[in-house]
Amino acid sequence: MSGIFISFEGIDQSGKSTQAKLLFDHLQARGYEVVFTYEPGDTELGQEIRRLVLERKTQGEIDATAEMFLFSADRVQHVNELIRPSLDAGKVVISDRYVDSTLAYQGYGRGLNLDDLRMVQNVATGGLKPDITIWIDVDLQTVQKRELPLFSDRIESEDRGDKGEKTFFQRVRQGFKEACQSESDRIFRVDGTRSISAVFKDVKKVVVNQISVRDLYKINLKDWVFSTIEKVEKGTAWNYAWQETYFELGGKSKESGRKFSPMNGTEILYRLGRIKGSRKPFRNPELKEIWNCSTNGAYAILALEYILEKPDISRSELWARIQERIRSELGEEPAKFNQGAPTVAYKLWHLGLIMHDK
Ligand code: ADP
Ligand code: TYD
Repeated sequence: MSGIFISFEGIDQSGKSTQAKLLFDHLQARGYEVVFTYEPGDTELGQEIRRLVLERKTQGEIDATAEMFLFSADRVQHVNELIRPSLDAGKVVISDRYVDSTLAYQGYGRGLNLDDLRMVQNVATGGLKPDITIWIDVDLQTVQKRELPLFSDRIESEDRGDKGEKTFFQRVRQGFKEACQSESDRIFRVDGTRSISAVFKDVKKVVVNQISVRDLYKINLKDWVFSTIEKVEKGTAWNYAWQETYFELGGKSKESGRKFSPMNGTEILYRLGRIKGSRKPFRNPELKEIWNCSTNGAYAILALEYILEKPDISRSELWARIQERIRSELGEEPAKFNQGAPTVAYKLWHLGLIMHDK
C-alpha cells in the first residue's frame, strides 16, 4: 500500500464535505492523483445501503446495532472495492467520513459498546486506518445557524432536544473529541467555526505538514545520501540525483521534495571532502559567493562549522548561531524554512556520516 489515505470527520453540517472537496481540488492541481469518496454509499451496494439507512421513512425502525452493521457493511464494500485498490495504485484517497463516524454516531451517539464497535470496525476494514483524519469541529449553535438542506436525512433530523445530559449531536461531538485525544498523531482538530477559506488554510497546513513528515520518515537518510553520491559519481547532476533517489526510495510527496530540498547543502558537503573531512574544511572565505549560488549550501557550511566546533551543540543553538552569522556577514534575514539544510547537516552528523579527524 503506497498511497495516502485522508478522512474527514465531524457532525452533520460541520462543513467537512466543503473542506474535503477543496482539498481534492488543491492536491489535484498540484499533480497528485486523487480519489474523492464518501460514506455511506460510494459503491453500487453502498447506494442501496445508504437508502436503507438514511431514508426518513425508516425513522425509528432501525435498531442501533442493525444500523451499525449497515454502515459497516457499506464500509467493507467501500474499502475492498475502492479505497484499497486506489491506495495500492499509489493514489491519494480523500473520504468524507470513515470509521470514526461509526464510533462517534453509533458509539457515543447511540450508546453502543465502544470495544465491540472497534472490533467490528477492525473486521470491516481489515485494519485499514487513515494516515490523516481531519476533524472539522463546530459547536451546535454554529451548525444550527447554517442552512439545513431542504430534505434532511434520518440521522440529520435526529432529536436535537434533551436526551439525558447531552443531545445526540453533543454526544457525537464528544466522540470525535475523545478519538482525537486518544489518537493525536492521526486525528487533527480544525476549528470549523470560521470562514470556509480560514478553515481551509488550516486543513492545508495539517495535510501538507503530515504528508511531508510521514514521507520523510519513511526514507532512510543514509540511503538517500549514499545513493545520491553514487549517481553523481556516474555523472548525474546533483539536484537530479537527489530528487531521483528520493523518489526511488519511495518518496511521493512533491511537498517534501521541494520544501525539504537540501540537495545544494548535500552537494557542498560532498565537495568539501566527501563528507569525511579534514579538520577545518568548512572555513570558507567565500560565504557570500556560495550564498549567491546556493543558499542551502551556505547554511550547510555554517552548520558544519559550528557542529565541528562544538559536537554536542543543540539544534536550537545551532540555528541561533547560524542566523546571527547570516545577519552579520551577509546582511540577510534568515527565513524559517531555511532550517532544512542545517537540519540535514545535524542529522548526518548524528548518523555518523560526517567524520572529523581530531
Ligand atoms: P457536512 O459535509 O459536514 O455536512 P457541508 O460541507 O455540506 O457539511 O456544509 C454544510 C452547509 O454549511 C453548506 O450549506 C455549506 O455551504 C455551509 N458551510 C460549509 N462550511 C462553512 C463555513 N465555514 N461557514 C459557513 N457555512 C459553511
Ligand atoms: P450524509 O448525507 O453523508 O451527511 P454528512 O454530509 O453530514 O456526512 O449522511 C451521513 C449520515 O450518516 C450522517 O448523519 C452521519 C451518519 N453516519 C453514521 O451514523 N455512522 C457512520 O458510520 C457513517 C459513515 C455515517
